[in-house]
Amino acid sequence: MSLLLVSKNRNLKPYKEALLELDPNLDVDIWPGIQNKERVQFAVAWRHPANLFDGFPNLKVISSLGAGVDHLLSDNTIPDDIQFTRIVAPSLSGQLADYVLTAVLNIIRKTDRYLDQQRRAIWRPLDSIKKDAIAVGVMGLGAIGEKTATRLRDNGFNVNGWSKSQKQIDGVNCYRKDQLGSFLAQTNIIICLLPLTPETEGILDLELFKSLKKPSFLINVARGGHLVEEDLIYALDTDLISHATLDVFSEEPLPESHPFWGRDKITITPHIASVTDPKESAELILENYKRMLSGMDLLHQVDREAGY
Ligand code: GLV
Repeated sequence: MSLLLVSKNRNLKPYKEALLELDPNLDVDIWPGIQNKERVQFAVAWRHPANLFDGFPNLKVISSLGAGVDHLLSDNTIPDDIQFTRIVAPSLSGQLADYVLTAVLNIIRKTDRYLDQQRRAIWRPLDSIKKDAIAVGVMGLGAIGEKTATRLRDNGFNVNGWSKSQKQIDGVNCYRKDQLGSFLAQTNIIICLLPLTPETEGILDLELFKSLKKPSFLINVARGGHLVEEDLIYALDTDLISHATLDVFSEEPLPESHPFWGRDKITITPHIASVTDPKESAELILENYKRMLSGMDLLHQVDREAGY
């Protein structure tokens, strides 16, 4: 029995080391160094090569190395009977909440404007945006969204939340799927933490930007596929959106020729809002690996139909 780690763009050695530290008897391969395909029953994947999972006759489970599973769901060469799981490590939601809080504080304290002024040696105090004059709105209230919403609430922000099913979170105004219009009308800073599914693809579009309360800002830490890029450029150019903070893009790395680079109303980070920690994820991977071996239900199973 072996466990396979696969990624085209991440160094998986620390994950293998962390797994072996927990259980030295584990048999762990890192793609492409696969000893014996027949022995692989459990795989952990992040941006795997296309068609890879077609040739493993005994593969039962593929765990995403992160919280998102769109990279697995979009690969229709993966046999239907393979169970998907994801890693929802406590530090992952904490990191994301920190990133979003930082981005929101940067918006209200106009950090990007001061960085620009500094580059041009301009000493000019600007009015900051008062916390109580605006509201932030979190789209997606799963484990990560809830952590982000409560972190913002605990830092004195008016917080709205929007999710498919009705949620109840202390001090957060929660809206359901069919209340999107009211949610947007009450929100200045929109924060996308939705899973990427056919239903949510392209949800960050011109119509949504127009529905926000002014001044309006966007923070996207979910997936590039949520955003209609040309709509954002139009919204920034027409001042519908004052600033966008983007950590995810439809093409990553963001190509050098992309129009987002060099725009002073966009802050770009290279998909680092949260990164799974090897030690923490090794514990969660091992737990699910053992559950699979003993035929128990797995943790953080993904509903392949629902898309998360
Ligand atoms: C990060 O993007 C993740 O899905 O964990």
